[in-house]
Amino acid sequence: MPKNSQVNIGLLGLGVVGTAVAQVLLDPSGFLSERTGSPIFLRRILVRDITKPRSLEIPSELLTADPDAILADPEIDVVVEVMGGEHPAFENIEAALRAGKHVVTANKELMAKRGPELLSLAVDSGVQLLFEASVGGGIPIVGPLRKDLQANEIEVVYGIINGTTNYILTRMGQEGADFQDALAEAQAKGYAEPDPTADIEGIDAAFKLAILASLAFHTRVRATDVYREGVSKLKARDFRYAEELGYAIKLLAIAKKGLDGVEARVHPTLIPKDVLLAKVDGVFNAVEVTGDLTGPVLFYGRGAGPQPTSSAVLANVLEIARGLASGDGSPAPPVVDRGFPVKPMSDLVTRYYLRITATDSAGVLAKISHVLGDENISVASVIQKETDPVEGTAELVLTTHPSSEKAMQKALEELERLDVVWEIGNLVRIEQMGD
Ligand SMILES: NC(=O)c1ccc[n+]([C@@H]2O[C@H](COP(=O)([O-])OP(=O)(O)OC[C@H]3O[C@@H](n4cnc5c(N)ncnc54)[C@H](OP(=O)(O)O)[C@@H]3O)[C@@H](O)[C@H]2O)c1
Repeated sequence: MPKNSQVNIGLLGLGVVGTAVAQVLLDPSGFLSERTGSPIFLRRILVRDITKPRSLEIPSELLTADPDAILADPEIDVVVEVMGGEHPAFENIEAALRAGKHVVTANKELMAKRGPELLSLAVDSGVQLLFEASVGGGIPIVGPLRKDLQANEIEVVYGIINGTTNYILTRMGQEGADFQDALAEAQAKGYAEPDPTADIEGIDAAFKLAILASLAFHTRVRATDVYREGVSKLKARDFRYAEELGYAIKLLAIAKKGLDGVEARVHPTLIPKDVLLAKVDGVFNAVEVTGDLTGPVLFYGRGAGPQPTSSAVLANVLEIARGLASGDGSPAPPVVDRGFPVKPMSDLVTRYYLRITATDSAGVLAKISHVLGDENISVASVIQKETDPVEGTAELVLTTHPSSEKAMQKALEELERLDVVWEIGNLVRIEQMGD
């Protein structure tokens, strides 16, 4: 392959991330070029509205609202997609790959939904499709799974991969804030979108987990394969009770490989308060990967924001530019799909935390234990919390030994029918990490 005397970039999107990427690419010191061995030029930028005021001074001839000005320009070697969403990002990336251009994307939604077909197209077209920024913002995690850890059989991936919910849960745990107050504060600080659904319902984390699990296990894990529960049912007192029991509560993304398939789930989780992941607070993210050779490896840092995300995008640009400058072009490695099935949630076996409001009288606990026992769920601990003398109720917090999810869901239905049970306050899964 001939060596490129320069590398030309087409940028799709000039929003939060695109502006930070453009700022570095337009840096007159040219320090990126030094690191690759050939000059790197930002040649064109696609936006929706070329007349919109921009926070960065951009030469007007760089801006275009016509995707073909980039996708059909034979001089452009690398397309960087930071538009977001599935459409038209998919069509634009597809066109870029078909035109023989390398692609870098930060788009978790697109990679979670359409990643495998785009990666196969990249292989067929002899170009690279890199996506470091799609998970964990500034934290290198996609690259380590693709390269540094590739000699391992990955057994488990645990992730705190949504900064917005981690900020909210940290406020609830440390300050006793209510969910709505913590969410409003996250919005006021710009950590949560005006419509926070994708974050608080675990949709964003499920996209990222689908990407991580697919990479870790060399198998296709779709976003829709990931079981997902959000954080809005958690109450400040769940954090107090969890603390008394020796746990923190995190929105944990969990992927595990067993003999019979892969588990992929995102839900609030009690984790022992002395493990490192329990100490990942605020908007910080972390991913712990356990390989058969390495044992656990922890990646920690800023999971979003313009500068951290631009670091990941630009690292991918440099990787491709180095290949072009040296003439090897760095074609993508083949896509391996080992075809492991993703197990249904009903097959899960785990421990549970269960908060129930029940009549405050003798024999109630026996009735509840009886229902659980009928489903082979054995109680590990029970504590009686606040009582309400006016209503005549008490709040009970139970933890269980490992039990099947199917049995637990059946037991919950039975418990709701008991005359002494006023409300199932919350059911949270416990991850006994390191066991
Ligand atoms: N923000 C973060 O911290 C972060 C972190 C990690 C990953 N990401 C990912 O990075 C990507 C970009 O996020 P962002 O926060 O930078 O988004 P953003 O601020 O909404 O910016 C989107 C940009 O794309 C342009 N655009 C969107 N649709 C377009 C279309 N149909 N035609 C032409 N231009 C279009 C917009 O043009 P106009 O400017 O003209 O409106 C805007 O410049 C997303 O995939 C996101 O998931 C973001």
